[in-house]
Amino acid sequence: MRRSFIAGTGMYVPERVVTNHDLEQMMDTSDEWIRERSGIAERHFADAGIGPSDLAVRASRQAVENAGITLDDVDFLIFATLSPERYFPGSGVYLQRKLGIQGIGALDVRNQCTGFVYALSVADQFIKTEMYDTILVVGAEVHSAGLNFSTPGRDVAVLFGDGAGAVVLQPSPDPDRGILSTHLHADGDYAEELCVEAPTTLERPWLTKEMVEEGRIYPTMNGRQVFKHASTKFPQVIVESLEANHLSVEDLDMLIPHQANYRITQMVAKKLRLTEDQYMSNIHKYGNTTAASIPIALHEAVEEQRIEKNDLVSLAAFGSGFTWAAALLRW
Ligand SMILES: CC(C)(COP(=O)(O)OP(=O)(O)OC[C@H]1O[C@@H](n2cnc3c(N)ncnc32)[C@H](O)[C@@H]1OP(=O)(O)O)[C@@H](O)C(=O)NCCC(=O)NCCS
Repeated sequence: MRRSFIAGTGMYVPERVVTNHDLEQMMDTSDEWIRERSGIAERHFADAGIGPSDLAVRASRQAVENAGITLDDVDFLIFATLSPERYFPGSGVYLQRKLGIQGIGALDVRNQCTGFVYALSVADQFIKTEMYDTILVVGAEVHSAGLNFSTPGRDVAVLFGDGAGAVVLQPSPDPDRGILSTHLHADGDYAEELCVEAPTTLERPWLTKEMVEEGRIYPTMNGRQVFKHASTKFPQVIVESLEANHLSVEDLDMLIPHQANYRITQMVAKKLRLTEDQYMSNIHKYGNTTAASIPIALHEAVEEQRIEKNDLVSLAAFGSGFTWAAALLRW
């Protein structure tokens, strides 16, 4: 069976930078609290009228260019986001229209922070089974539209940022290089620990003025539960992917973890005994960009030449659901 590989990467973040000091003007928080708890110094926010598909257009064009192909070569696209421009249709069709590649299939993935790894795994299966040859896999978020920037929302609002990342997946020209395996997990027992309650089809009408006034339209998070589970599941799924390929942590050249929180990344690095040059962290610049964080960090790692040909690279994520996943690649 043929293997798939990442032929090109791209990213885009909106121009507007929002620092922790800017957030201090909106809610009772401090630069010190945010840095200490999360490692975040600033994030980028999109202006009203800009949706995740607009950010994804820029990231996708760059990924296509870096892959040395044209948009006409793309025969399928997968879009991971938890902040789509509309409840339906999904962001995939908006991206497709904006790229001018109407007609090809467009799939939307709703797996929050793990969305990109789930999307990559789906794309990998399509390439392996020869259903498609060139798949655009995108993660993009506009969180700034859906956060509570007053003090009651501060535990969540300070963590997230907007952005997009994209990769082009194609059959690998070298059977020893590319995606070695992907590993997907979820545990719905924890569905309410990080979620947005409303609008909801469980109630009639599905969106009310009260829901808005009571703040039920904003994400709620049990931060400690998320932290506890993330620091266990991240290392577990990374080791699972290594063992599945008869490899060990010592073989790992670069870990690109979902940028949830610098403290979580540090905890994972400590548990796996990784040195600083073995993992990517860019959360200080972008905050947590959910489905976009891995392709953004991957693009930066490639640009900074922190990943070289034949390196063993792990992409791993944990998030709402709870969901967690990893992909192991020979670059
Ligand atoms: C959210 C998180 C940073 C909170 O850190 P923590 O050490 O657990 O902090 P606590 O929840 O104990 O809160 C400590 C205090 O800070 C306050 N606080 C919360 N958010 C704050 C903010 N933005 N600024 C200032 N104070 C804040 C709390 O209200 C609490 O005050 P209290 O003691 O008077 O009640 C931490 O739980 C975490 O990192 N969780 C994982 C989050 C994550 O990665 N989410 C994304 C998953 S993909």
